[in-house]
Amino acid sequence: MQEALDFLTLTNRTTIDRLTNAAFGHHLLIVGQTGSGKTTTTLSLLGQLQQLNQTAIIFDPTGEYTRLPNAITYRLGDNCYLEAGKLTADQLLATLQVQGDHPLRTKLQQAVTDLQIQHNIKDEQGPYRRLNRPLADHQHDEQGLGAWASDFLLTDLFAQLIEEFVVPYADDRADYTRLGQQYDRAAINHYWPVLAAIQDQLANPAFRALFDTDEHAGTMKSELNFILKMFLYHQSSHRTLVVDLSLLKDYEESQRLILSLLLKEILRLRLRDNAGFPVNIIIDEAHRYLPQDEQRLADNGIFQLVREGRKLALKMILTTQSPLDLPARLRSQFGNLLVHRLLDQEEIASLPSVGLAQAVQLPVGQAELCIFGETPALVKVNLPAWWQGEENE
Ligand SMILES: Nc1ncnc2c1ncn2[C@@H]1O[C@H](COP(=O)(O)OP(=O)(O)OP(=O)(O)O)[C@@H](O)[C@H]1O
Ligand SMILES: [Mg+2]
Repeated sequence: MQEALDFLTLTNRTTIDRLTNAAFGHHLLIVGQTGSGKTTTTLSLLGQLQQLNQTAIIFDPTGEYTRLPNAITYRLGDNCYLEAGKLTADQLLATLQVQGDHPLRTKLQQAVTDLQIQHNIKDEQGPYRRLNRPLADHQHDEQGLGAWASDFLLTDLFAQLIEEFVVPYADDRADYTRLGQQYDRAAINHYWPVLAAIQDQLANPAFRALFDTDEHAGTMKSELNFILKMFLYHQSSHRTLVVDLSLLKDYEESQRLILSLLLKEILRLRLRDNAGFPVNIIIDEAHRYLPQDEQRLADNGIFQLVREGRKLALKMILTTQSPLDLPARLRSQFGNLLVHRLLDQEEIASLPSVGLAQAVQLPVGQAELCIFGETPALVKVNLPAWWQGEENE
């Protein structure tokens, strides 16, 4: 085997410069079987990005990156949360991992709107009562809602959903100038399993923490979209942001959806006001976050950011166990590769670069580096200087 080069150290600054230079403009894919050193390599690389004063945002599914020094760390459910009002009704249902048909989703959308009225316009406790409320009043309330009024109390969502089942009397007492005069009990019963499932999930500690449903006098929590905005618009002295999503590690579907939304938000903020400075976006264990079917890929935030990001100076660094985890359409967007030990030739064959024949026998901490347009090189990853692990040699 070739002599290993010194990799990701200051002595090999040119490698890092080539790899991280934003003008170079290619995303980086880090692959390798479990335990081959992807996370360690990424941590080491992040240390280098810090030395170069480059900005990085890490989405951390397991909390492994919280030990990275000189980073601002937000842990979902701890010192940050997601505002439920930033989600559409469909996204909210998907996050809660509840299935609902179209009529139910429409009810949910209306329930959220009504709660937004209650919270931002009426400033009243409990659900927004629809029983006997004149239609004209409701229309007036709805028109008063602006984009600023997205916030609402999730704790009232179940009661509000019941309120959405208010209908006029079915006989000549019916008053069609009002939202309704009685509860449609048959419809409530029909949807009861779904309503109960929503109520269950809203009581689940993980989702309570995600949406910051509980009162907590004295402790400050920041909203995730706001954190991203601040970080992207204002150059702070700390250029590394870690967003720890491990709260949801048992809820893969929710984690996937939320990460997708956050990446779309980064893209949206950049499109609206491109501050210019390059940002590296790091997603470890990206396979967790990718949709299973190719159909949904186009709507996924990872895919959108990978495709659109380069012209906005957003560079993606993804790690995943097998290159086959990534749909070919996504894989082909990565110009730079860092290949740790792989399981089999099929995985190697899925990668465009030549010279990877040895990838099935690479020891931990070694990888093949394929920089776009250059001959692949074998590299050794040195542990970061701050590393405290027992593995330290
Ligand atoms: N460059 C290195 N030098 C020395 N030890 C290393 C190096 N890279 C990784 N290791 C050790 O190997 C083990 C696995 O590394 P790591 O967690 O980075 O692998 P991984 O590819 O991210 O695995 P997984 O897919 O399970 O997340 C760790 O104990 C780590 O300390
Ligand atoms: Mg790892």
